[in-house]
Amino acid sequence: MTDTPSVVSGPEGIELAVRALRTGQLVALPTETVYGLGADASNPDAVAAVFRVKGRPTNHPLIVHLADAAAMGEWAAEVSPGAQQLAAAFWPGPLTLLVRRSPSVGDWVTGGRDTVGLRVPGDPVALALLRSFGGGVAAPSANRFGKVSPTSAAHVVADLGAEVDVVLDGGECSIGVESTIVDVSGAEVVVLRQGGVSVEALADVLGFRPRVEQARAAVGEAVAPGMLAAHYAPAAKVIICSADEVAAVAVDLLCDDPVADGAPMVIGVLSPSSVDGLPVEVIELEPAGEGADYAHALYARLRQADRLGITHLLCVPPLPTGVGAAVLDRLQRAAASS
Ligand code: TXA
Ligand code: MG
Repeated sequence: MTDTPSVVSGPEGIELAVRALRTGQLVALPTETVYGLGADASNPDAVAAVFRVKGRPTNHPLIVHLADAAAMGEWAAEVSPGAQQLAAAFWPGPLTLLVRRSPSVGDWVTGGRDTVGLRVPGDPVALALLRSFGGGVAAPSANRFGKVSPTSAAHVVADLGAEVDVVLDGGECSIGVESTIVDVSGAEVVVLRQGGVSVEALADVLGFRPRVEQARAAVGEAVAPGMLAAHYAPAAKVIICSADEVAAVAVDLLCDDPVADGAPMVIGVLSPSSVDGLPVEVIELEPAGEGADYAHALYARLRQADRLGITHLLCVPPLPTGVGAAVLDRLQRAAASS
């Protein structure tokens, strides 16, 4: 066994990936949000391997990726009018719908819950793979449990190595943060995770603003296991600041504690636009821009911060509208866990 997976692309790559899924192997696939670690959702052994490789507790259910909304009927016991409306408006796209599951959906995918997460991704390579495969592909983000999601094939290879059989390279993910998860299984429509579809866009289609569930601090009875605040964190301690205060916060940190735990403190800054007045010791990462640009850059910048040995990353968030709200959410989770 080699220590690198086979990285494939193009129509031949898709064919190879489909064969791999059919024989119970793991395939990392590009989507417009982040890369997924995919397995045939109907194969319990293949899905068990996803949990093993990711190091993820089996009570954290997986999203099932489908080729089109018509396939929803095979996986859902009931498709509510709200589910239909949202699927029609946003699929293919960065939206996951939690619906009551059909009895035929395995516990190995849902962690024994009575709902299943379904998504038709918008990325053309993902869609081509799903169409050719024909079934559902169960896939969490293709990173180790609790770490930053991968937004390129190189990130997947760096994280998982040969533990994934095939990496289907579709280039950089166009959106760069995970899908919006909306629970449409009950009487109330609830946003469980903000993501590529903004709450404003959901409200436009629904005709009302859905409730947005806040991240939880600990596992316990959390509504969705993935809503844990501790997810989505780099190794660096993340500190959220406004553009006005970031230079002063950097100066204070340097004065207070020039050496953290015996190791030198390395301060970095991530901001929508370049910051004036930073001390020379501070590493300013390339500005991330606003909204969609920040989302696209976020996880690559967090990985870069780790590579540079940054111990304290001061983050100026983007404006919290559109996908900027999902970026702020991820920064808050990262800050809460470090
Ligand atoms: O953009 C995305 O959603 C990516 C791409 C690959 O599609 N996937 C992704 O999956 O982010 P994952 O597993 O990393 O995050 C999905 C979260 C998990 O925390 C999971 O526990 C939760 O959604 N989830 C999935 N199905 C659920 C269900 N039936 N009930 C409650 N939570 C669920
Ligand atoms: Mg994830």
